[in-house]
Amino acid sequence: MNKIKKYSYGICFLISIAINILLSIHLYVGGGEKNHDIISYKPSLTWSLKAAQEAEAVAAITCSGHGLAFLDGLVSDGRPVCECYSCYSGPDCSQLSPGCAANADGGDPIFLEPFWMEKAADSALVVPGWHRMSYKYADDTMMSTELESYIRKLHSIVGNAITEGRYMVFGIGSSQLLSAAVYALSSENSSSPSNVLASIPFYGMYKSQPMLFNSENFKYEGDTKSWQSNNSTSNMDVIEFVTSPNNPDGELKQSVLGGKTIYDHAYFWPHFTPILGPSDQDLMIFTLSKLTGHAGTRFGWAIVKDKDVYEKMINYINIADLGISKDTQLRALKLLKVAIEEDGKSLFQFAYNKMRDRWDRLTSVFAKSTRFSIQKIHPLHCKFFNETRLPSPAYAWVKCEREEDEDCSEVLEAGKIIGRSGSAFSANNRYTRLSLIKSQDDFELLLQRLTELVSLENGIMETM
Ligand SMILES: Cc1ncc(COP(=O)(O)O)c(C=O)c1O
Repeated sequence: MNKIKKYSYGICFLISIAINILLSIHLYVGGGEKNHDIISYKPSLTWSLKAAQEAEAVAAITCSGHGLAFLDGLVSDGRPVCECYSCYSGPDCSQLSPGCAANADGGDPIFLEPFWMEKAADSALVVPGWHRMSYKYADDTMMSTELESYIRKLHSIVGNAITEGRYMVFGIGSSQLLSAAVYALSSENSSSPSNVLASIPFYGMYKSQPMLFNSENFKYEGDTKSWQSNNSTSNMDVIEFVTSPNNPDGELKQSVLGGKTIYDHAYFWPHFTPILGPSDQDLMIFTLSKLTGHAGTRFGWAIVKDKDVYEKMINYINIADLGISKDTQLRALKLLKVAIEEDGKSLFQFAYNKMRDRWDRLTSVFAKSTRFSIQKIHPLHCKFFNETRLPSPAYAWVKCEREEDEDCSEVLEAGKIIGRSGSAFSANNRYTRLSLIKSQDDFELLLQRLTELVSLENGIMETM
């Protein structure tokens, strides 16, 4: 009997040693994908503790759900001040101003704020005071190799761009890359400047940047179709901006002139449009702003086929700004690591659901109107979600249908709605763009004001 007891104690002892070894391996070496970037050695926190406590203290200020407090915001009586969403005020953003106009201007992608609050632990960063003080990385470049490889991984997961065998250039937002691309594609030795064109309605920056730079090598020439009808095909020194999906109307566009093109894919992500397949253009530009919503981080990238064009773009960035902020690149890396979690499903499902809900509600309001209409959207097969879905563009492109409503922005403004006039997109002022990517408060107020306006048209006053 004693012998059996001794024998079973021995077995128990061996099992317990085996379990301990297995647990230690799991703890220090790490199991599962999420542990890849966790440092195996875990010292107790020292210098980062104070920063973490500060960050959490600010994040804990709720601002009644109608604003946020930030680490770098104003401080009053030693406490960070709430920054309220539009139409809310007071120390805790709890006061809604009655009769406040819904501001649907601008392209701030605040609709993704709640996603990042859900991902607080995965997306937070601790940056020591001595983080990357040099202009350059150890490999003598201005660009993080690790960030570049995550961007390539993201495109291969989403299936929206070919990156194999292509060069990459980082920029201060995609805005900087738009001008770097025009510079790189323009003819240096020609007697006349290259013509910069886009198809109406188009994003205003394509006009304002070349006009500001006033270069001898390129000049803004306006709309592709008018240019085509006034010029012979032999004069093809053109640089055409193709925005797909388009800002303001969400259309998937193609080049009209077939010359040198810059594909602006700021909105080519599964939350705004079904992904039909990877874009395979010579020069494609993307931005973090409309992907993760971090417009304030100012980070964009270009994917470039031609080595000469790539080198000219790098030269532009280096001379204009001595490269991109290393802090920005660190933040972009952290955010993209979250974006590719669950093969992108977590971020894109959240973002798509949010945009879909906004579009469904918006469409039902406009369905009751004959005075106002919005762009038609059609279902397409999305290879990323592997199903047929309706697009959910970032903006509603509103048309005032009544003959007398020539200035649509003015009509909407009288109904307490602020949009961006058609002329800002070189289009007719009978059109106005309304942003659907702002905060939930902004969207709710926009829907309320639209409902009121449409109800007046129908002779009933609805309240929401
Ligand atoms: C079509 C398009 N391209 C580029 C940009 C610029 O984006 P960012 O400079 O934030 O990357 C915007 C911003 O709204 C846009 O709508």
